[in-house]
Amino acid sequence: MNEKKVAVVTGGSAGIGEAACRALAADGWHVIVAARRIERCEMIADEIGGQAWALDVVDQGSVDKLKALPRVDLLVNNAGGAKQLDHLKDADAADWEWMYETNVAGTMRVTQTLYPQLKAAKGLVINIGSIAGTDAYPGGSGYNAAKHGLRGLTRAFRREEAPDIRVCEIDPGRVKTDFSLNRFAGDAERAAKVYEGKLNLSAEDVAEAIRWVASLPAHVNIDTLSIMPADQAER
Ligand SMILES: NC(=O)c1ccc[n+]([C@@H]2O[C@H](COP(=O)([O-])OP(=O)(O)OC[C@H]3O[C@@H](n4cnc5c(N)ncnc54)[C@H](OP(=O)(O)O)[C@@H]3O)[C@@H](O)[C@H]2O)c1
Repeated sequence: MNEKKVAVVTGGSAGIGEAACRALAADGWHVIVAARRIERCEMIADEIGGQAWALDVVDQGSVDKLKALPRVDLLVNNAGGAKQLDHLKDADAADWEWMYETNVAGTMRVTQTLYPQLKAAKGLVINIGSIAGTDAYPGGSGYNAAKHGLRGLTRAFRREEAPDIRVCEIDPGRVKTDFSLNRFAGDAERAAKVYEGKLNLSAEDVAEAIRWVASLPAHVNIDTLSIMPADQAER
């Protein structure tokens, strides 16, 4: 019987999610490292004494397997990302669908599926949004729409479940991860330009915010937390 509190981190295989898995494990959580790249999840889980879990948040059949978890105190809905930087006039509906399905519907599926465990534990849900969820930018319309959508989901769920399940949204600004590499379909040169000559948050900076929110006593709910590099002030 595992006496530790249990955290599920979606998109735990890389970037912010991986750093969150490491930070939470160091803080005493038993961490379920959940993502599609199971070999990466296994490597990370081995290192932190956690558990790897194959999860595709856009596949209900895959998400349903989470029902087998006996206990979940913390869910970090981190799986997500962006596709391309097209202006609306050139946008590809398939990219929009990917962004909505992964960032928004994926969060709904996982949260709904783990609801019984979260309710029983009087647990905490941390959704990783983005400043793109409040602030639009040219070429961002699909990602802006998805993260605005995630914000709406988060706020409704918070009102539905207070005070039993705490719900928090953490909104990072620019974080140097594979986010841009994935956004630009593997174009490393284009991705590197996003971060060149700028201050950038590390995945660990955001993970520290996740760890802190999760460490607070049960009567405290951090509602929304924006975190940006010092040179990123536009909103
Ligand atoms: N980097 C930034 O500047 C930034 C800023 C604000 C918000 N964010 C948000 O932070 C979150 C993490 O992004 P990141 O920067 O760490 O980027 P990343 O390095 O590209 O990580 C994305 C993670 O999402 C997982 N993922 C993608 N699709 C998935 C699916 N269908 N099922 C399960 N997992 C899936 C990936 O794992 P697998 O490929 O192994 O499945 C990966 O672990 C995202 O929600 C992103 O929108 C990032």
